[in-house]
Amino acid sequence: MTDFIPAARPLIGDEERAAVDRVLRSGMLAQGPEVMAFEQEFSAHFGLDRACVAVSSGTSGLHLGLLSSGVKVGDEVIVPSFTFAATANSVALTGATPVFADIDPDDFCLAPAAVEAAITDRTVGIMPVHLYGHPANMPALGAIADRHGLQLFEDAAQAHGASLGGTPVGAFGSFAMFSLYPTKNMTSGEGGMVSVANSEIERLLRLYRNQGMEQQYRNEVVGFNSRMTDIHAAIGRVQLTKVAAWTAKRQENAAFLTANLDGVTPPPVAPGAVHVYHQYTIRVPHDRDGMAKALREEYSIGSGMFYPVPNHQLAPFRIDLDLPETAKAAAECLSLPVHPSLTRADLERIVTAVNTLAKAGS
Ligand SMILES: Cc1ncc(COP(=O)(O)O)c(C=O)c1O
Repeated sequence: MTDFIPAARPLIGDEERAAVDRVLRSGMLAQGPEVMAFEQEFSAHFGLDRACVAVSSGTSGLHLGLLSSGVKVGDEVIVPSFTFAATANSVALTGATPVFADIDPDDFCLAPAAVEAAITDRTVGIMPVHLYGHPANMPALGAIADRHGLQLFEDAAQAHGASLGGTPVGAFGSFAMFSLYPTKNMTSGEGGMVSVANSEIERLLRLYRNQGMEQQYRNEVVGFNSRMTDIHAAIGRVQLTKVAAWTAKRQENAAFLTANLDGVTPPPVAPGAVHVYHQYTIRVPHDRDGMAKALREEYSIGSGMFYPVPNHQLAPFRIDLDLPETAKAAAECLSLPVHPSLTRADLERIVTAVNTLAKAGS
């Protein structure tokens, strides 16, 4: 039986285990010096030139980032429908309404013209997702935001190290969130990192993260317990020393797949964009689900469908909207393994399997 090639594989080594042990032995388990160091190292590593605030998950990072930016009941925030539900959930959790706009078929991210058409007098912000690790069209979205007096936020959950025109994602919006969930390009176990454009948003984020307290028992606002633990931060700090090499390997793997796949559409990269390939997502115009099943059952290769149901068709958000590019992507997209632990033999197996299935299906 051929070894199964999983769609994703978190990489945890002896260094992460030693770091966790160091924290456990210290007796200081909750948010402390490891979290503070992780925040500074994360910002420096990704060249953000901004303060970062660590939280317990990417979702809480988005939620608290929006609250800290003043998003509230009655407001609207424009988001893609073609994303993980956490994007829209975080808007809805503030009491605001997520307004879904269509994507650009080339980069799978918010289409600027669709965003502009979705603006109403209740719109306060635009929150693109750098989907799969490809940066959204931030210059165009930023220009729209400026023109209409809106805030620009970033869901960078999948895009650690991606950039556009030399600017790293996470440095465009008034805040940006990076997820540290185990299958992301780097992990802290669970967690999120939020980069912030100014000290007022930073202060509010730190308050909301910690029950509304900057000073103990002097609560200033109604807050949450969304703190990251020092155990998680210690894992994240080690992963920061490895993520650049892992990203380079993802990019190398993607280049191999793009050079050798035939009969499917590989993911394009916009001019000036650095894609970090959280996912390597192809379009399969005929019977995508059949290809995923055959890859698993006949070739022992995992794959992913991100995301088969657009958010505007999910129960909490159901609304009658015509988003043709979103519908097409939801039906066609298939993410192939691209993670750094793939061998050349794995990559060749993936290419052979996909090309054979594409040929048979076309
Ligand atoms: C696009 C997107 N937004 C938000 C999230 C939420 O992050 P987390 O799982 O860390 O809460 C994720 C990850 O799962 C994601 O992929």
